[in-house]
Amino acid sequence: MKINNTGIAGVGSYLPKKRLTNADLEKMVDTSDEWIIARTGIKERRIIEDDSIMTSDLAAEASIRALDDAKMKPEELDLIIVATITPDMFTPSVSCIVQNKIGATKAAALDLNAACSGFTYGMTIADQFIKSGYYKNILLVGADCLSKIVNWKDRNTCVLFGDGAGAVILKPVSSGEGILSTDIGADGSLGDKLTAAAFLNSEIESEKRNGGPLKTLWMDGSEVFKFAVKAMAKSTETVLNKIDKTIGDVDMIVPHQANSRIIDGAAKRLRISKDEIFTNLDKYGNMSAASIPVALDEAVKQGVIKSGDLIILVGFGGGLTWGAAAIKWS
Ligand code: ACO
Repeated sequence: MKINNTGIAGVGSYLPKKRLTNADLEKMVDTSDEWIIARTGIKERRIIEDDSIMTSDLAAEASIRALDDAKMKPEELDLIIVATITPDMFTPSVSCIVQNKIGATKAAALDLNAACSGFTYGMTIADQFIKSGYYKNILLVGADCLSKIVNWKDRNTCVLFGDGAGAVILKPVSSGEGILSTDIGADGSLGDKLTAAAFLNSEIESEKRNGGPLKTLWMDGSEVFKFAVKAMAKSTETVLNKIDKTIGDVDMIVPHQANSRIIDGAAKRLRISKDEIFTNLDKYGNMSAASIPVALDEAVKQGVIKSGDLIILVGFGGGLTWGAAAIKWS
């Protein structure tokens, strides 16, 4: 069987129009624009206009844009993967709902949950299907409506998150192009540092939220912060080592957009200048699985990423998990 690499044939994203600014949050919790900008770099985030809008709505819109970019019809898709921690419902999966919404009648569909690392996990999975020759055309989406699970009374978390979706079309390309290497990992022993407990009947989780709704996000911010800086730097080094490249060979890093101080910390560890790291978190906050593909879409549309560039996508998130991909852009 001929072994191909996996290339990105199209990128698209969708963001709700409604903006939630730091000034808006000042009216909701005891916080300030100065604190949020200094500690996170976030100025505003996008939030769904009303509760009837679901993750699948954002995902379908981003998917249509990625298909247009790839000049491909939905019927040509073999598989849809949606990375999300905020599915519309337990079943059907968001990927099945998207399949129906966009008319991808021939595609298999699956969701995956690796929180903010979901897009890099999805890329790793899709890469195996394409390299093995099992599938040719895969739609990979990172989509989350975090506003549905944010505790709007918890200033430790509510200032951090937003809603959005980003998508890519993955196709076979010649070896030497596209995805050159990937790395994914998890440390489940740190799972309790970032939880959305849903139906768990747990006194500990209840106490963490002072009796607030168990489905809402709770996070030990400083523990996640320390983990994130190390995991992003290590996963970047791992994907570069796998292809005998060094950080000096990298043209652009597109990291998970959680916090500008986490990105600065990882950049310092990797000894890479901030100019070589794409950020847009000031406009959108942390959109979990959507952050990396939305940033990738903006970087490509702004001409920041060009043909022949070596780029790194890298993220970390609940689980706790991490993941990265080294890509030769074509
Ligand atoms: N406004 C004002 N004060 C605040 C706010 C706020 N919004 N939030 C917290 N504070 C207070 C705290 O209560 C604390 O006060 P205290 O000293 O009186 O107790 C003080 O600010 C300092 O709190 P720290 O937690 O030490 O602040 P830190 O500098 O660590 O920043 C932050 C907190 C931004 C949450 C940081 O830890 C962080 O970004 N962590 C990582 C979060 C992340 O990226 N998660 C991503 C994964 S998400 C996913 O996978 C779905």
